[in-house]
Amino acid sequence: MALPVMPEISQALRDIAEDYVIMKCRYQSALREVRTKLEILDDEFQMRHSRNPIHHMESRIKSPQSIAQKLKRKGLPLTPQAAMENLNDIAGIRVVCAYLNDTYAIGEMLTGQDDIQLVQTRDYIASPKPNGYRSLHLIVRVPVFLSEGKLLLPVEVQIRTIAMDFWASLEHQLRYKEVTHVPEELNRQLLDAANRIAALDGDMQHIHDQMAVLANRIGDLK
Ligand code: GTP
Ligand code: MG
Repeated sequence: MALPVMPEISQALRDIAEDYVIMKCRYQSALREVRTKLEILDDEFQMRHSRNPIHHMESRIKSPQSIAQKLKRKGLPLTPQAAMENLNDIAGIRVVCAYLNDTYAIGEMLTGQDDIQLVQTRDYIASPKPNGYRSLHLIVRVPVFLSEGKLLLPVEVQIRTIAMDFWASLEHQLRYKEVTHVPEELNRQLLDAANRIAALDGDMQHIHDQMAVLANRIGDLK
């Protein structure tokens, strides 16, 4: 049996839903700006070097449930205002690159643009997390032009290699499937796999660099 909803509660719920729609629209625009910048950089790189540094991208807007959980965890009021003022990961884009050096190159090319503000860099490639997680995390602020004027909105950019992404997807399943007790042996195997992936990324970069030198020499001889 459905419970009767008091008019003031139903109005409050409508207000919250409306605020979320407005917020989502703004952050989606910010994501589009960043994605377009990355696509342009990828296209230009392809034109100059005949290959794409970006393998693929994924983006998402944080769900209302995750926003509420994070606000609660931080002891903040559960309002869109508090979310916009305190959370930097409402809009997130993941950039997956083939080679290790491409991750840093993409990060530098993006943050070097004069309309982008770099808020935070966390280099978990140079300093991996204790579980073996590797990725380059940037928080950038990007201008979005709306009818009400210019807004500078934060976007979390996670840049990693295909191999790092492969590892993170598997590890994420373990963390978010609410497995109550993860055997120590599984954590050890994951850490071991992460270290082998890092070595493999290094090897692939090295082979790729040698092939590029070779291709240049052949080009010179032609
Ligand atoms: P969150 O509150 O989880 O957003 O973390 P944070 O604000 O302290 O930032 P951090 O840079 O640690 O993580 C941001 C995001 O990176 C997370 O939401 C995940 O998507 C990803 N991430 C960070 N650490 C790990 C990890 O150990 N494993 C996996 N699979 N993903 C991770
Ligand atoms: Mg997050």
